[in-house]
Amino acid sequence: MENGFTVTPWEVTGEIDYDLLVQKFGTKKIDEEMLSRLSKYGPLHPMLRRHIVYSQRDLEWLLDLYDKGERFVLYTGRGPSGHTHLGHLMPWIFTKYLQDIFGAELYFQMTDDEKFLFNDSLSLQDTLRSSYENALDVIALGFDQKKTHIIVDSKNIKTLYPLALKVAKKVTFSTAKAVFGFDNSTNIGSIFFTSIQSAPALLPSEQKGRNIPVLIPCGIDQDAHFRVTRDVAEALGYYKPALIHTKMFPGLSGSDKMSSSQPDTTIFTIDPPKVVKKKISNAFTGGAVSAEEQRKSGGKPEICSVFKYQYYLFEPEDKEVDSLTERCRNGQILCGECKKLLTERLIKFLEEHQRKREEARSKVEDFMLKVE
Ligand code: TRP
Repeated sequence: MENGFTVTPWEVTGEIDYDLLVQKFGTKKIDEEMLSRLSKYGPLHPMLRRHIVYSQRDLEWLLDLYDKGERFVLYTGRGPSGHTHLGHLMPWIFTKYLQDIFGAELYFQMTDDEKFLFNDSLSLQDTLRSSYENALDVIALGFDQKKTHIIVDSKNIKTLYPLALKVAKKVTFSTAKAVFGFDNSTNIGSIFFTSIQSAPALLPSEQKGRNIPVLIPCGIDQDAHFRVTRDVAEALGYYKPALIHTKMFPGLSGSDKMSSSQPDTTIFTIDPPKVVKKKISNAFTGGAVSAEEQRKSGGKPEICSVFKYQYYLFEPEDKEVDSLTERCRNGQILCGECKKLLTERLIKFLEEHQRKREEARSKVEDFMLKVE
């Protein structure tokens, strides 16, 4: 926490300085030049226009290959520790956009092993069950079934293991300690785990018998794993995977990351309307104590969690975002009204999502990785 915040695959706390992360991790910001390049493949996603998807590694290289006709594969995943919340959906929605504009195949990893190893209170049965429950949320987003392969680690370990072994042989304990902060009290499964998260990045090449470029859309918190993957990939004869990073989805408490451990300020995809209403009504806005006061002094959209929800996920039109910002700042729209608008939108979105989520139950098996 030297800078007042922490961002690792297993802990995100404090007020995140995203520019500092780019420096510390050695990634590259997605600049105007890259945005203009990306806009040639399809309309820029609001997350790109708003710098929510904001950092990358080797994206130029990947697009150069694509322009020459070489197709890449997408790879992302989920640590199935419980119910899916909106923060999880955000990078998946972006991944779906990438699948659509590039016509790319997707490997989606459910790390039930990881969540078992890193969480004292979860059994393997719990994390396996969550893998299938979370897969319903993935499928509900509309991924192309013919092009999407869901990997459940404990089920597909036979496929992953030879690749994980190759990675593991090249990563020392001292690297794992330096990258992930492990110490002598860390269980040995956790130390090995990063090689399992590397494996799907190499799998497309393995399955197709030639090197396939891979793009990993993920939260910036997952970068540490792929620094390891990228460090060893070339020595193993594979391409380094390219990455595209999202910021973390904010919590309703005003914190920088929505977290399952704070259920009252987290919207889960299975929340019924009544619960959504209650959570939003209690959300942090940073507004003034009285309506009268706020009409005079105006609100602060930059710290308001309700505004952030519109900005990150629910208001696709930039014009509407600008108008909301302005009306908030000069006291024309008050927190109560904003909360009502967001609640209505969320309830509508979740009703639709929950319907598709139930439909997905009969399709799960079709989405699972097929192995010969
Ligand atoms: N470790 C990730 C998590 O806890 C899950 C994951 C596995 C993942 N492979 C990935 C996330 C690839 C992004 C990209 O959520």
